[in-house]
Amino acid sequence: MPEYRYLLSEREIPKTWYNVIPDLPAPLPPPLHPGTLHPATSQDLEVIFPHALIEQEVTAAQNIPIPEPVLDMLRLWRPTPLHRAIRFEKALGTPAKIFFKNEGVSPAGSHKPNTAIAQAFYNKAAGVKRLTTETGAGQWGSALSLACNVFGIECMVYMVKCSFYQKPHRRTMMECWGAKCVPSPSDLTQAGRKVLAEDPETPGSLGIAISEAVEDAATRQDTNYSLGSVLNHVLLHQTVIGQEAIVQMKLAEASPDIVIGCCGGGSNFAGLAFPFVPLKAAGKDIRLIGVEPAACPTMTKGIYAYDFGDKSGMTPLLKMDTLGHDFIPPGIHAGGLRYHGMSPLVSLLHREGIVEAVSYPQLKCFEAALTFARAEGLIVAPETSHAICCVVEEALKAKEEGKEKTILFNLSGHGHFDMAAYEKYFAGELSDYEYPEAKIHEALAHLPKAS
Ligand SMILES: Cc1ncc(COP(=O)(O)O)c(C=O)c1O
Repeated sequence: MPEYRYLLSEREIPKTWYNVIPDLPAPLPPPLHPGTLHPATSQDLEVIFPHALIEQEVTAAQNIPIPEPVLDMLRLWRPTPLHRAIRFEKALGTPAKIFFKNEGVSPAGSHKPNTAIAQAFYNKAAGVKRLTTETGAGQWGSALSLACNVFGIECMVYMVKCSFYQKPHRRTMMECWGAKCVPSPSDLTQAGRKVLAEDPETPGSLGIAISEAVEDAATRQDTNYSLGSVLNHVLLHQTVIGQEAIVQMKLAEASPDIVIGCCGGGSNFAGLAFPFVPLKAAGKDIRLIGVEPAACPTMTKGIYAYDFGDKSGMTPLLKMDTLGHDFIPPGIHAGGLRYHGMSPLVSLLHREGIVEAVSYPQLKCFEAALTFARAEGLIVAPETSHAICCVVEEALKAKEEGKEKTILFNLSGHGHFDMAAYEKYFAGELSDYEYPEAKIHEALAHLPKAS
């Protein structure tokens, strides 16, 4: 009888996070202060982050203990199941074995609560009363709302305008957990008012929403800022995914040749892929592939340079693959992948050839997601459809070459709040966007002079 799912008990949740920093092949360039362009100090960062998270940003320790109250919350849905997608394999007629980690089973529907819970915990411990954040697809805003509710912190979410109207129920979900959610750009911040004055019809972007959330946090004593991706500590918290997957793949008596995840800021991809980096370094032939939208091709078409994390230039500068901080990507339905930059850790590993990157247009991704839904029953988020598109390509390549590859991917979130996108796809109203070359060139011309 074929086995479909490989499950671990609550006792088998990893007790530590895996830190990739000691395993990097080259030193990670430090963040720079946006004013002086000198390396940012802890005091600079303490305006918006608690000390414990700043320490996790730079630590060289390999394994970092997960505090008991965080583990206690993770137990509500972790360990997540590892599935073998046998019906999907059959639908594709591939000799490849396809496995996936289902992060869509968390209360908010994605991998995002893995870090939201940890971040809310450390902020609470530091006496913070209120957290602000941005959200693209609404998955991160929901996750932080859930986490703030658990730890009794107020939560304010700036949601990218085009997603706010594409997914009204995400806002309601955040309100169920007691948070406040407004469309960004808003007139609540200077950053938002400036963008609205220049372009009242703007679809918004993660870069703009980050500017608003950071400004809100930096101008209030009781408030910190929380980021759902990109930063080292966020990726660190996501490594429970890959650590569990390694144990579960052993149960399945398999070992991945290819590990795949979609990439917005890089956190779900890193969460699954980073724990495999030591195996790759030890000589195992394993490919780690990050997948991004053709409309926002940060790794495949961007450059590796110091850039701001937000539109207004308020955040520290990070050395990363970037399309330029004032690039506003087209309003594709994978709102969580509309970010101009990539996490510095993923960018460095990409630069060093340890991580590969590919990009696909959205129609092809929806097509792949539907093949998957009709075979496995699970309807995924548009972000996740990018990972599945890459799985299809690799599985069909294995078929052509007659090779029995083992593919592992991250099902980063379910698509139950994304029906409007699927509806548009069925109505033939979704289109692919050309690679926005001229806009990217213009944005890259405005990079800060720190590289
Ligand atoms: C379901 C889902 N997958 C992927 C992403 C991309 O983010 P990241 O690259 O940080 O995993 C998002 C972001 O909102 C998301 O909601």
